[in-house]
Formats: sequence, C-alpha cells, structure tokens
Amino acid sequence: MDYSQRRKPYILGKILVAFILIVFCIITLKQSPTHRSSSTSAFSRHEPGVTHVLVTGGAGYIGSHATLRLLKDSYRVTIVDNLSRGNMGAVKVLQKQFPEPGRLQFIYADLGDAQAVKQIFAENAFDAVMHFAAVAYVGESTLEPLRYYHNITANTLIVLEAMAANNVKTLIYSSTCATYGEPEKMPITEKTPQHPINPYGKAKKMAEDIILDFSKKSDMAVMILRYFNVIGSDPEGRLGEAPRPELREHGRISGACFDAASGIISGLKVKGKDYPTTDGTCVRDYIDVTDLVDAHVKALAKAEPKKVGIYNVGTGKGRSVNEFVKACKKATGVDIKVEYLDRRPGDYAEVYSDPSKINRELNWTAQYTDLEKSLRIAWQWQKNHRNGYGQSLLTAS
Ligand SMILES: NC(=O)c1ccc[n+]([C@@H]2O[C@H](COP(=O)([O-])OP(=O)(O)OC[C@H]3O[C@@H](n4cnc5c(N)ncnc54)[C@H](O)[C@@H]3O)[C@@H](O)[C@H]2O)c1
Repeated sequence: MDYSQRRKPYILGKILVAFILIVFCIITLKQSPTHRSSSTSAFSRHEPGVTHVLVTGGAGYIGSHATLRLLKDSYRVTIVDNLSRGNMGAVKVLQKQFPEPGRLQFIYADLGDAQAVKQIFAENAFDAVMHFAAVAYVGESTLEPLRYYHNITANTLIVLEAMAANNVKTLIYSSTCATYGEPEKMPITEKTPQHPINPYGKAKKMAEDIILDFSKKSDMAVMILRYFNVIGSDPEGRLGEAPRPELREHGRISGACFDAASGIISGLKVKGKDYPTTDGTCVRDYIDVTDLVDAHVKALAKAEPKKVGIYNVGTGKGRSVNEFVKACKKATGVDIKVEYLDRRPGDYAEVYSDPSKINRELNWTAQYTDLEKSLRIAWQWQKNHRNGYGQSLLTAS
C-alpha cells in the first residue's frame, strides 16, 4: 500500500484539531472579562447624550470622589492614574458600584509619558477632562521642587497638548489657594494677586498660566477651580482619604487628627499659638469633598467654548486650628493630646476664601459646613478601613 495515502487522514485530523483549538481560543478570549474590546468600544466613540470625562488622578482622594459623583450623574468616566499616590482599592469600589459596560474604565498610565498620553487620547473619545492628577504636598514640594514642576506643570502641558490634538472641548483644572501665597487682605477673591511662595503653589500657578495662554487662541471651555483645605469623605462610606503611610509627615490636619485618635501617633503638634487670630492658632477654610465635587459637576455643566472661568472653592468661613481640633475630638470621641510648638516658618495666620463669584455664577454654595459632621463621616470610614484600601496589586514608583 502507498505510504502517502496512509498519512493523509492523519494529517487532515491534525489540521482539524488545530482548527477547533483556534476557534475555541477565540471564543474563550471574547468571553473573558479581561478582553476589553466589547467594553472599551463604548469609550472610543462619542455618543449623543453621553458625556465622557477623563478623570486624571481618579484613584486619589478627590478624583475618586469626583468619579463617584460623575457616575451617579450618568457620565461615562475613564480614570487615568499611575497609582503613585492613589489606591487601586478606590477604583475597585467604583467598578463594583458601576459594573455596566461603558460606564467606567481604568487606565494605568503616567501622565509624564507623553507617548502613552497621546495613545490614550487617540484611542478614546473624551468630551471633557478633569485634571486632578498631581503630587500635592506643600512641604514635600520644598524638598523636591523639580518633581513638583515636572509632575504638575510639565504634565499639565502634556495633557493640554493631547486635548488640543484630539479636539477635546472642556477642561476642568484642579488648582489651589496656594497659588495666592500670602495675601495682605482677607478674604481671598479671584482678583487677589497670585504670588505663590512654595514650589507646589508656583507649579500650579505656572500650569494655570499655560492653560490661560492656550485658551486665548482656542475654542476650549476652561474652568480653573482653586480649592481651599479639603476634608471629609463620601457620606455613604464607600470612599475615603487614604494617603500612603510614608506621606504622613507631609500630611494634612485631618489625617493627623485621625492618626492621633487611632493611636498611630501619640498626639497632635499644633505649630504656633501666638498668631493674631481669635485664639492664636492659624485660621483656614475647610471645604468638604462632597461640596468640592459638586462644584466640579456644576463647572462642567456651565463651561462654555472660548471662555475661562476661575473660581475659589471654599466656604468663606475661616476656622482656627483649635476649633478644628475640638471638632475632631468630638467626632472621634477621643481626647486627643495636643502639644503646642513654635510657629512653622512660612505658615500664614489666616487664609479663607470669598466664594461669592462661584455662588453667583455657578449657583454653588457649600452645604457641608458643619466641621464636626464632616469629620465624623470621614472618621467612620477611617475606623472601618484601618489599613486604608489595603494593598494595591499595581504599584508605581
Ligand atoms: N487635598 C487638598 O486639600 C487639595 C487642595 C487644593 C488642591 N488640591 C488638588 O487636587 C488634586 C487632587 O488632590 P488629592 O488630594 O486627591 O491628591 P491624591 O494624592 O489623593 O490624588 C492624586 C492622584 O494623582 C495620581 N497621580 C499623581 N501623579 C500622576 C501621574 N504623573 N500620572 C498619573 N497619575 C498621577 C496619584 O496616583 C493619585 O491617585 C491635586 O491636583 C491637588 O493639587 C488638593
């Protein structure tokens, strides 16, 4: 018998098995939750009636709260974050709340990587950008100024270039009262001259200037929001503030109060009690994160092509550090030990906003102005999340 005739059915059988295997693999891949083609397609095309917002820094404290609010209000959201400071745990909470395809996608990327940013913008159809991503500690900025100029100023330029190249129409920019420096007159209005005194404030002011110069020759709708001191967390307890432990030394007063209440640190060190204020301690304007994200949604709704809106986002009311500590003691039920030290160089006595412009033009007013209540909500989350969001699977340098 001819040998080649005997081999034929054997080879045909092998080809058939290989074909079945390939078909099986394709079907399995398509059904796999990690295969993104079906869910990402919604993100890559504009859809009438749906506003797709890119939230940079959406794994962070304010960005995650903003994402939650946007999703609740039926926006489509893409988070881009390098997880250098944020938490994958926060993203997972959001994904669990909004699992439907086309609602939320997370992209792990560094905004300093211009190529990656270009690709993200080319592959996704964004209608607006809320640019939260930044390193954001005044003290750290004095120790690592170049990092701050790079991360804040240079990265904003990269985002803006990508927006311009892809005709993304609206930008809501996270700025800060640190851009004002040490104003002579209180309260701070949007017309108060900006003379920032640390690299953080300077980097944000430079980013603002880049945006303002660009907007003169562009159709883009721009809103610049200058936040005062942000506190609080989601009243329904889904999200909270969970900075990395190594950032504690640069941390903010609410974090320090909670750390003292939970015994992570022995007590609070209040720097300066001889300021010319009612009780000698510094006065600041504390804005609840729920109010802050509401200001973003209102800014997005009112943003107009070729126009720039600049707004202070604060309560308009200054509270002293002593008042804050008293509220924190009540909210946590812990008699936090307080030690008074000398003034810290560079701290100014009083900072509070005049929010009348945002009240008037965006119809926004702070609602969560009960300090103790805001702190009680945030403390509840802290108590339920002793380990923050837990260990993130993805980490970045
Ligand atoms: N928290 C405040 O009191 C306050 C006050 C004024 C202004 N702001 C501004 O609000 C914004 C958000 O602050 P936050 O308190 O939520 O900080 P955060 O550190 O909690 O969040 C910042 C997020 O940006 C991400 N990020 C940083 N660099 C990145 C990069 N190169 N690429 C991609 N992602 C990057 C981090 O991983 C993090 O998730 C910042 O722009 C900050 O300057 C905050």
